[in-house]
Amino acid sequence: MAAINVMIKSTGSYLPEKVLSNKDLENIVDTTDEWITTRTGIKTRRLAAEDEATSDLAFEAAKVALQRAEISPEEVDLIIVGTISPDNFFPSTGCLVQNKLGAKNAVAMDINAACSGYLFSLVIASRLLDGGNYKNALIIGAEKLSSFVNWEDRATCVLFADGAGASVLVPSNGESRLLAFDLGSDGSYGKDLLVPAGGSRQPATIETVEQKLHSIVMNGNAIFKIAVNKMRETFTKSMEKAGVTVDDISLVIPHQANLRIIESLRNFLKLPKEKVFVNIEKYGNTSAASIGIALDEAHQQGIIKRGDIIGLTAFGGGLTWGSAIIKF
Ligand code: UT7
Repeated sequence: MAAINVMIKSTGSYLPEKVLSNKDLENIVDTTDEWITTRTGIKTRRLAAEDEATSDLAFEAAKVALQRAEISPEEVDLIIVGTISPDNFFPSTGCLVQNKLGAKNAVAMDINAACSGYLFSLVIASRLLDGGNYKNALIIGAEKLSSFVNWEDRATCVLFADGAGASVLVPSNGESRLLAFDLGSDGSYGKDLLVPAGGSRQPATIETVEQKLHSIVMNGNAIFKIAVNKMRETFTKSMEKAGVTVDDISLVIPHQANLRIIESLRNFLKLPKEKVFVNIEKYGNTSAASIGIALDEAHQQGIIKRGDIIGLTAFGGGLTWGSAIIKF
């Protein structure tokens, strides 16, 4: 596959202040720090304040990424927000962020691909930039999943959390490029990870609220197995398309859903620990935000340098999955 001449010019992220530990969760549901740690790898997660919505988190991450790219809000051409926890069904969170930034010349939209939201946004924005219609794009994965968690369901409330990760993309004339990507979907598994009510299928009623049908419902076991297989498959496909092997890759940044899923990918790729980025212990599963946040942390920590070949991969509700190989 031909590489796309687009580079990630800068990154930014925002994590809300409030920390919720496994010990705190022991007081909310029937769980233990030991169970959460061994089954998921999560120790703490961040929760947005009551008056903070997804667009506020996205805005904070976007500000940092734009400052680092030295691009003013007026100069932004395209804003894509990957999210499944928008402030409202509409207007899109992209439009809300555009307004908060004062990015009045940008076209803005949302992508609903659950945990693959950052990757889907990256690929769509890259293709639009490559077409020559835009000179930059701001992509943001942002979630306030705490608003969609059933705090009585111990199987999900220990996993999901809040945060935002943003990147500025620009056309590239040099070495930095999106070497290859692979995206996929399988709607037949939609029922295994969803928010059942609140849409046109089952609009909000007193009953849907009482039955907690406006919160995330997940068949964790089913998703786990597919996640492991799909991440292996999609990552292998992207490497083949890019014409690289694992030895060429200096860092893999997987979606942070469960340390056991990440470890299974690492073992499959036969990579040492230092080549697979993990921050799930601090932030839990922030869905579309997780890769954007991890990419920013890895960049700020100097783990990724210009010219490095890195791999991204994710899977999530829909189902959706994807991967990308990037010459950073
Ligand atoms: O972001 C993309 C989408 N989501 C995912 O990637 C999630 C994928 N799935 C997973 O990560 C795992 O399936 C979970 C972490 C959700 C669950 O781990 P598991 O090892 O698959 O556990 P399980 O669902 O098979 O449950 C094992 C036991 C059950 O008890 P019994 O039936 O064996 O008595 C659960 O009731 O663990 C129990 N359990 C808990 N116990 C303590 C479930 N949640 C908890 C909890 N604390 N929080």
